[in-house]
Amino acid sequence: MLNVAVVGLGWWGRIIVGLLRGHARLRVAAVVDPNTEASAGFAREQGIALHARLEDVLADPAIAAVVLCTPHSLHRAQVVAAANAGKHVFCEKPLALSRADVRAAVAACNANRVALAVGHERRFEPPIEELFRMLRAGEIGTPLQVEANFSQDKFLDIDPRNWRLSPGEAPAGPLTATGIHLLDLSIGVFGEAESAFASVRQLGSPLVNGDTLAVLLTFRGGGHALVSAMLATPFVGRFALYGSHGWIEVRDKNHPEAPEGWEFIVCKRGGRPERRDFPPARAVLANLEAFAEAARGGAPYPVPQAQMIANICALEAVVRSTRSGRVEAVEAAR
Ligand SMILES: NC(=O)c1ccc[n+]([C@@H]2O[C@H](COP(=O)([O-])OP(=O)(O)OC[C@H]3O[C@@H](n4cnc5c(N)ncnc54)[C@H](O)[C@@H]3O)[C@@H](O)[C@H]2O)c1
Repeated sequence: MLNVAVVGLGWWGRIIVGLLRGHARLRVAAVVDPNTEASAGFAREQGIALHARLEDVLADPAIAAVVLCTPHSLHRAQVVAAANAGKHVFCEKPLALSRADVRAAVAACNANRVALAVGHERRFEPPIEELFRMLRAGEIGTPLQVEANFSQDKFLDIDPRNWRLSPGEAPAGPLTATGIHLLDLSIGVFGEAESAFASVRQLGSPLVNGDTLAVLLTFRGGGHALVSAMLATPFVGRFALYGSHGWIEVRDKNHPEAPEGWEFIVCKRGGRPERRDFPPARAVLANLEAFAEAARGGAPYPVPQAQMIANICALEAVVRSTRSGRVEAVEAAR
């Protein structure tokens, strides 16, 4: 059993506590949130000890791991502190907001020989796993281009002072909320990005930090990714990969909060598009289980650290491009 502390008991931290209730291999032994007033009722209902400070759980030898569900600017320092205390770390996305920070976070985990995982659960969705299997088996030939969209209108009603809408915590508008998952998948396909051209605008909402993001990434190994993320249009989740022998499109049937599964369409050269349906699956839990497996010394966490770093290098270049209006080079992960 891996005893974890869930750190940050807001929207996502509470979802994770709920997902882990009664789990055979992962147990939420503590929760942490400085806003104890807002968190106490939930912690009591769950029968879990609440702490106001991360240091309290880092000092507790009964806690083996932390799951960080906190605002983005805190991630680097919290990953480093947890790793230095010998705790395995699952950190929500984005792992950091700069190349320097992500490298420091990864280095701290490696120096302390603790597992590191990131909340990019889309990699654990069965149709995405099937897309990667087909890609690696050569079934669609050379990967040419990704076209992807992850948009939603969940933030329209939140308080404009919320951290999620601030340029410091959420640079480039929708990037850190949804677009970052698509950068991660694109890097899973093509490896490190080489350049980014991006534009963010406020077009259809009061979200002054921007509600409409378009990104073109090029990759060192060839290939392009066209990434769309909007916060002022109803939910859409689409990831399409075009290859020299065929293409694959994965479409969410509904928002992951009320999952209805996916449409999976494959078209091979000379054939016609063929559609399969995938039933709903618990990708967030599968990600946490892969983390637990790595933490107990079993199979390594399946996302390479070089890709975790490459993702934040791409994020940084996207943000720079939205500010400069130019194509920006992506710094090398190493
Ligand atoms: N993987 C996904 O699909 C997904 C979905 C939603 C959110 N997230 C991520 O989860 C993280 C949290 O987002 P959220 O929507 O739950 O935000 P939220 O604002 O609802 O919750 C954040 C919580 O962190 C607490 N907090 C602030 N400072 C803290 C500190 N120093 N130590 C401990 N807790 C602290 C706040 O009091 C708050 O309760 C972000 O990284 C976000 O991107 C991921």
